[in-house]
Amino acid sequence: MDIWSTFGIFALFSILTRTALSAGNSPWVYLRFTVVGYIRLLGNLKGDDDNHGDFKSENVNFAWQHDARIHNETDESLVLSLYNNAAMDHSDPGPSTGLVIHVDLVNKKAWRIQELTDPTDHIVSATQGSFQFLPNSGTEHMLLGYGSIPKLKEYDGDGNVVLRGQFGKDTFSANAYRIFKFPWSATPHWDPALFVNHTTSHMTDLYMS
Ligand SMILES: *[C@@H]1O[C@H](CO)[C@@H](O)[C@H](O)[C@H]1NC(C)=O
Ligand SMILES: *[C@@H]1O[C@H](CO)[C@@H](O)[C@H](O)[C@H]1NC(C)=O
Repeated sequence: MDIWSTFGIFALFSILTRTALSAGNSPWVYLRFTVVGYIRLLGNLKGDDDNHGDFKSENVNFAWQHDARIHNETDESLVLSLYNNAAMDHSDPGPSTGLVIHVDLVNKKAWRIQELTDPTDHIVSATQGSFQFLPNSGTEHMLLGYGSIPKLKEYDGDGNVVLRGQFGKDTFSANAYRIFKFPWSATPHWDPALFVNHTTSHMTDLYMS
């Protein structure tokens, strides 16, 4: 880790702590600081309108980020994925988005590769949120968890929504710090229950648990 990277962490903490103190935020916000504090680049990327970062960027704009992760890191570049909750600023009408950013470490430039939104569903999370590249999904699918909003969405490599999920009835009835999807199988100790309803002569509904 070189000098400017170390500086990045301090810059991040000072910016976010100042924001939190002035906004009087919930414990979730402090937890988020701890997590993103390990991402050495974020403090130096242009993540807000202040434009005080060391990196030049035309189209990268994020704030209140969550679940930031580094991929494919080399001495020259890396890819950064994060849940962008700039909508939390209230000056930004949202929506909350998933962001994939290419960071050129040599020329200190960053640009957006993907910005994920569901055009049919304008979500503005109050807290939390997650971003996962799905392993072995053929094309690179991505899963967003919307934090304080009990929803998840899977996007294909072109940014189209291919799966929508909701696990709470109302907007604030449940929340998830992070949502992950993995291949899973299990064998229960009991036999599956199956209910068969021959609804018409050519159609049968099966319900199983
Ligand atoms: C990392 O690199 C591999 C190989 O080039 C590529 O398939 C994959 O999409 C990259 N991952 C990200 C997050 O960019
Ligand atoms: C079975 O199908 C019939 C005909 O569609 C329907 O009226 C009935 O409600 C169904 N029963 C259940 C338990 O789903």
